[in-house]
Amino acid sequence: MARKKIIAGNWKMNMTPSQAVELVNTLKPLVVNDDVDVVFCVPAIDIIPAMEAAKGTNIHIGAENMYFEEKGAYTGEISPAMLVDAGVKYVIIGHSERREYFAETDETVNKKVLKAFEHGITPIVCCGETLTQREQGVTIDFVRQQIKIAFLNVSAEQAASAVIAYEPIWAIGTGKVATTEQAEEVCKAIRECIAEIYDEATAAAIRVQYGGSVSASNAAELFAQDDIDGGLVGGASLKPDFGQIVCYNK
Ligand code: PGA
Repeated sequence: MARKKIIAGNWKMNMTPSQAVELVNTLKPLVVNDDVDVVFCVPAIDIIPAMEAAKGTNIHIGAENMYFEEKGAYTGEISPAMLVDAGVKYVIIGHSERREYFAETDETVNKKVLKAFEHGITPIVCCGETLTQREQGVTIDFVRQQIKIAFLNVSAEQAASAVIAYEPIWAIGTGKVATTEQAEEVCKAIRECIAEIYDEATAAAIRVQYGGSVSASNAAELFAQDDIDGGLVGGASLKPDFGQIVCYNK
């Protein structure tokens, strides 16, 4: 069965709750495409108002982060049960900005991935190399390591339903998009890594996104690649351009 594309916006630390409602209202007529799962990953405080604004549309509201404990003395964190109760079905895990600024590691990513599955939330697991790693030719080794640790103790059935976002760090927010060949090469290697950990059926089912300066002008070519099943979109997800990205095949 063909994999359904999944195109997710990552709002990062943008939009107050009232701005979030406004943006959902602006984008909702623009992001209608039955061929694609459409997700807006929004700041925690925006989840409930955005969910309300998106009611009755094809938009899923997702989270940008989640903690790996059930509840308790973890000031400032958001639990999986809180997300579930708010109606969240997707959560970004291990974005490079969280790894860089908030000390997330492959090990904490793994704990969060396991916890998300335990609660029936689909993780969008981020991976990707720095410019130095790319220049030193270790991109694929590095990304394989990230994936192998992120999926430790994750069952094949869970992995089949997961989303992986390959985001080269040097392409995030820089306007420097990876070439289609570079993006496809790593997304293909990720799928092969999943086949190695699990089996061909799991590798064929898992969805692998590309992220990093995805725009209305490059989305169609990127998403046409065999192993690229959509995108994780930062900057362009805050603009009407996101409609063109979601409707890349129209
Ligand atoms: P960008 O961000 O599209 O602004 O490069 C992508 C991301 O960080 O998910």
